[in-house]
Amino acid sequence: MNRKIGVLDSGVGGLSVMVGLQELLPNEDIIYFGDSKNCPYGNKGADEIFHLTMEILRFMEQNDVKLVAIACNTISTLIERFKSEFNFPIIDIISPTVEYIEKIKVDNLAIFGTEFTVKSNVYQRLLKDRNNEIRIIPEYSKTLATLVDCGDFNSDLVKDTIKTHMDNIICAGNTKNIVMACTHFPIVQDIFLEVAPELNYIDPGYEQAKAVKDYLHNNGLLNKKEKGTLNIYTSGEIDRYEKVVEKLNLKSLGGIYKIVL
Ligand code: DGL
Repeated sequence: MNRKIGVLDSGVGGLSVMVGLQELLPNEDIIYFGDSKNCPYGNKGADEIFHLTMEILRFMEQNDVKLVAIACNTISTLIERFKSEFNFPIIDIISPTVEYIEKIKVDNLAIFGTEFTVKSNVYQRLLKDRNNEIRIIPEYSKTLATLVDCGDFNSDLVKDTIKTHMDNIICAGNTKNIVMACTHFPIVQDIFLEVAPELNYIDPGYEQAKAVKDYLHNNGLLNKKEKGTLNIYTSGEIDRYEKVVEKLNLKSLGGIYKIVL
C-alpha cells in the first residue's frame, strides 16, 4: 500500500532510527518531523510532552500516513495516552526493545536516556515484568540530547559529558550492556565508542525498525514502489538536519522543510 510512514521525534534524534528503517524498508516513502524548536522534551512535564506530540500526530494525520513510528523514547513512555486517539497504528520504541532484551537474555544492563524517560520507570517496569531478577542501572543526562540537537557532535563538552555518564555506569557495577534510551545518542555513537569501547551498546532504533517492518508485512501494508523517499519537516533549523543526514548517510532525500505546526 503506497501511503507514507510517519516518523517523529523532539528533534534530530529520530533520524538515528531512519538508518534501520532505510535498511529494512528501502521501498517506503517516509515523512519525518523533528520538533527542534521545542527540544529537549526530556526535561519537560508529561502534559506538555503529550500536547506537543498531539500536534505532530495531527500533522501526520493530515498527511494520510499509514503508520507512525515514535522515534523518541521520551514520547514513547506516554504511548498509552495517545495510541487510541488516531485511526492509524502507532509503534513506540520501548516495547520492541524490551522484547529484544528478553530474547537475548541480558540480565544486567544500564538504561541511559533523558531525565523524563529514566524517571518514568517505563523501561524498568516492563523489563522487570518479564524478568524479576534483572539488574538495571538507571542513568540520565539533562544536556546531551540538546547538544546533539544543536549539531555539536565532537566537542570536548560532548566527550566529557559522555565520559562522565559512562564512568557513572561502570562505577555503579559490573555491567557491559547499555541501552541507548534516547534516539539522539546513537548520532554520536563514534564518541561513545571512543570513550568506552568495552561496552555493548543496544540501539532501540533498530528494534523499532524491525517492529515497523513486521507490522507492515503482517497487515499487507508494505509499499510496492521501487524506491522510497525521505522528506524531513522541522520546526527548527534546516542546516542541523542536513548535518545529521550527512553524518548518518541517509539516502533518497527529497527535501528538508521548515514549518510551523
Ligand atoms: N530523542 C528523544 C528520546 O529518544 C529525546 C530528546 C529530548 O530530550 O527531546 O528520548
